[in-house]
Amino acid sequence: MFEALFGIDTILTMVLFILWASAAFATGRLARSKSRKQLLIRIVVCLVLLYAAELAVFSKVYMIWQLWSSFGWWFAVTGVVGLFPFLLPSAAIVAVRIIPWLHRLPHKIKSEGDQPLQAKERGKLSAPSLIVPVQAATLASLFGISTVFYQITPPVWGAFLTFLGLFAAGTLCLLMRQARRSDAFFEGTMVVSGVKTRVLRGVAVLFVISIGLSSAVYWSMQDSRLPDRMWMMGEANDEGGGTPISHSGHQHDGTPHSSTVQSLISVTELTGPRGGVPDRRFTLTARKETLYLDSGAGVEAWTFNGKIPGPELRIRQGELVEITLVNEDIEDGVTVHWHGLNIPNGEDGVAGVTQNAVKPGESYTYRFVADQVGTYWYHSHQQSSKQVRKGLFGPLVIEPNKPKPSVEWLDIPIVFHQWDTTENKMVPSLGTADRLQGKAVSPGTPVRLRLINADNWSKWFALTGTRFQVAAIDGNDIVQPTDLRNAKMLVAGGGRHDITFIMPETPVQLTALGDTVGEIGMVFSQDGSIQKADVGELSVFDPAAYGALASTPFNIDSQFDREFFMVFDNRPGFYDGQFDMLWTINGKVFPDTPMLMVQEGDLAKTTFVNRSFMDHPMHLHGHHMLVLRRNGRAVTGSPWWTDTLNVAPGETYEVAFRADNPGIWMDHCHNLDHAKLGMTLHLAYEGIYSPFEVGRATPNQPE
Ligand code: C2O
Ligand code: CU
Repeated sequence: MFEALFGIDTILTMVLFILWASAAFATGRLARSKSRKQLLIRIVVCLVLLYAAELAVFSKVYMIWQLWSSFGWWFAVTGVVGLFPFLLPSAAIVAVRIIPWLHRLPHKIKSEGDQPLQAKERGKLSAPSLIVPVQAATLASLFGISTVFYQITPPVWGAFLTFLGLFAAGTLCLLMRQARRSDAFFEGTMVVSGVKTRVLRGVAVLFVISIGLSSAVYWSMQDSRLPDRMWMMGEANDEGGGTPISHSGHQHDGTPHSSTVQSLISVTELTGPRGGVPDRRFTLTARKETLYLDSGAGVEAWTFNGKIPGPELRIRQGELVEITLVNEDIEDGVTVHWHGLNIPNGEDGVAGVTQNAVKPGESYTYRFVADQVGTYWYHSHQQSSKQVRKGLFGPLVIEPNKPKPSVEWLDIPIVFHQWDTTENKMVPSLGTADRLQGKAVSPGTPVRLRLINADNWSKWFALTGTRFQVAAIDGNDIVQPTDLRNAKMLVAGGGRHDITFIMPETPVQLTALGDTVGEIGMVFSQDGSIQKADVGELSVFDPAAYGALASTPFNIDSQFDREFFMVFDNRPGFYDGQFDMLWTINGKVFPDTPMLMVQEGDLAKTTFVNRSFMDHPMHLHGHHMLVLRRNGRAVTGSPWWTDTLNVAPGETYEVAFRADNPGIWMDHCHNLDHAKLGMTLHLAYEGIYSPFEVGRATPNQPE
């Protein structure tokens, strides 16, 4: 729906420009008519074009209104602020003055019989009051074309003033030019240049324009090159309208203030407990290995402990965990990030922010207390777009610290990922199962499926054959989950859903929906045989209206200390010298995206608006976000806590989080290819800095 509306609007914008440009050309030719007869024909052509152009204006207003009412202000702002203030007045003058004048004109012209056109008449036909409004409307619709790709982002006033300046200057030039022409016609001194001169002039103009354009392109290519080393802190700060922050810990070029470094806290000091005997120890060894999916397809995998996905880390709540990362042979180094765990910043495992990438032969130890019950995962946060794709990730489960229930649960993490096989195909799988698999479960067994989406793309899962519940989202229990049946749920890239059911007598099927419908999944049955069933009609699970309302530490009515805003767009541009379609936050890509600044204890609200055509699973490290509203409507079910929120095209989300975990935290799209192209920024606490650097000249490339 959003894509369709946006597509139509884009086409309309082109049509609008073509019609106004043609009308401007046609009106400009009136004064040059050779005879009265030709003039009469030209007037008719003008009128037809002007009526069509006016119709296009009406349609455009209607479209923008549609976008506004269906998706909200941010989907209309570009039209309302960047186009209408210029287009509508021009189009109105054309409608009330010029069109009627053109209608009256033929009588006057005919009354003169077939005498040649006089200088005075030509002068009137080229009067600025006739010609310039049409040209101005053309100029305005040219702005419209540029904003198809370069949509207006905050600050809106800045964009408006820029357009206003351009429009005023452009219209003034057109007025002066037309006044000169009209005078020349009056005085009969207008020289109509020959074809040759006109062609030459055209070529010269094109030449100048292309020189200008190519130097602009060259400049933006050069400008997009990332420095060889930089602090992972944006150049600009966004304080979200809250109390001014004194010690942001870095100056405008991103380097720390040397004078303040002493008074700042380094992220390396924000660690888990250094002393104490760990309750649980793990070693994760990163190494390359050729592995095979169940179908036999080979994967040149980068693995933890020789497995894809990496080993399941199962921990009990409250345990002190010590995990040693060893890098055997990943040349560019690795790290481990604990996705969804709000542990101390120093253990967050982001190369260039909280540590240096661990090189071959090196090791690194993480220690933290596992407080949060639920389903999580871990993955490398060095070259994450590449390393996660190749397999450096695994499931992490924290069980409640309660005595084991008397009935044995079937409790399995199911990790979705698309593997890049040796045949250069992307093969979707659950674990290594790239086909339907069977599992024997005796009736009456309680089952918990921990769906983990370790892929860049959001994934639909369907569960059919029994009543079931979504027990948790991103590790957070749902309050009083209700029964679902034959439903599908969307798990964001990086997100998790826990599904529970009691095994019935008949088979139950979990299906990862996609191009290969029913091909990847799990069939649970008494004997483990695979009887593939059609998934049939599915209802859509809606996390915004599921389970029971419950009290939360803050809500929509809370007083927010800071409010952040992010609108996501897609536009052509350069990133690090490469041409690409960029995924932008408020029109910018990292490191031009601002640092979101907070003080410890702040209650912060963030609004996400997706004007692009792809999902953006927004992941904030170190904090859980509470979803307040989706598309302007409050969440009506169980509190919806998330760390990875899928923002689909056309959607708007308002979320809030408490700044209660000091550090420098990444906040990025978990489509890691988007993050690599700059769709990332950081949440930074006052008084904290990171001594690490990123860039070619450092060991660190977090994305
Ligand atoms: Cu799972 Cu910054 O990522
Ligand atoms: Cu994205």
